[in-house]
Amino acid sequence: MEPSPLVRPRSFVVRGRKTEAQQRAIDEHWAEFGVDFDGARLDLDTIFGRSAPRVVEIGFGNGENLLALAARHPERDFLGVEVHGAGVGRVLAAAHEQGLTNVRVVRHDAVEVFEHGLAADSVDEVLIFFPDPWPKARHHRRRLVQPDVVRLLVGALKPTGVLRLATDWEPYAEHMIDVLDAEPALVNVAGPGGFIPRPDERPVTKFERRGERLGHAIFDLEYRPRG
Ligand SMILES: C[S@@+](CC[C@H](N)C(=O)[O-])C[C@H]1O[C@@H](n2cnc3c(N)ncnc32)[C@H](O)[C@@H]1O
Repeated sequence: MEPSPLVRPRSFVVRGRKTEAQQRAIDEHWAEFGVDFDGARLDLDTIFGRSAPRVVEIGFGNGENLLALAARHPERDFLGVEVHGAGVGRVLAAAHEQGLTNVRVVRHDAVEVFEHGLAADSVDEVLIFFPDPWPKARHHRRRLVQPDVVRLLVGALKPTGVLRLATDWEPYAEHMIDVLDAEPALVNVAGPGGFIPRPDERPVTKFERRGERLGHAIFDLEYRPRG
């Protein structure tokens, strides 16, 4: 029997224009921080020029979290995956300005990057913060957190790895719990159905601020591979 095809959500819309400065940052700094992805396996040791603990952030937006963590943890390498050109430009400009050497950026659908680009057991942390909630019922299938995607993330995570998520959209938080608690290869660190307290280390991003302005509660989740 043919294996059933992977359900790949189209979890993003490419929107917004890059400013001239963001385009210039891409032109000038892509060679330093950008990673061209053509569907082939990424050699992270070559990309970062060393072997170090690896964090992958999916959908880093403007890069507030990616940049803050990279500056705080020079001993770790940070691979950001984002489709939004303006955010990519912003991160390239900031990484250059701050002289960061442990950040690289892939501008591509993260689902394909996990499916083809990342080797099994190669990633220490996967971060998904404030993914697009796709609130309408007919759009729920566009949510990034889906069983097939979660299996891809689990495949890339080292057995000692960790998957961290946050959202300000309660129905998406519940959806995340349903999908992630049902994945037999993962353990919810907070216990079944549970959320962790907001980690101090996670910087407040534009999307978290927006959620707070709207009076939304913030939900943090943490999962580890089942040993
Ligand atoms: C609501 S924003 C949150 C940005 C950021 N994490 C934050 O907390 O500010 C979600 C981001 O995920 C990106 N995104 C959605 N699906 C993606 C995918 N499959 N691959 C890469 N990026 C994706 C979108 O382009 C968008 O920038």
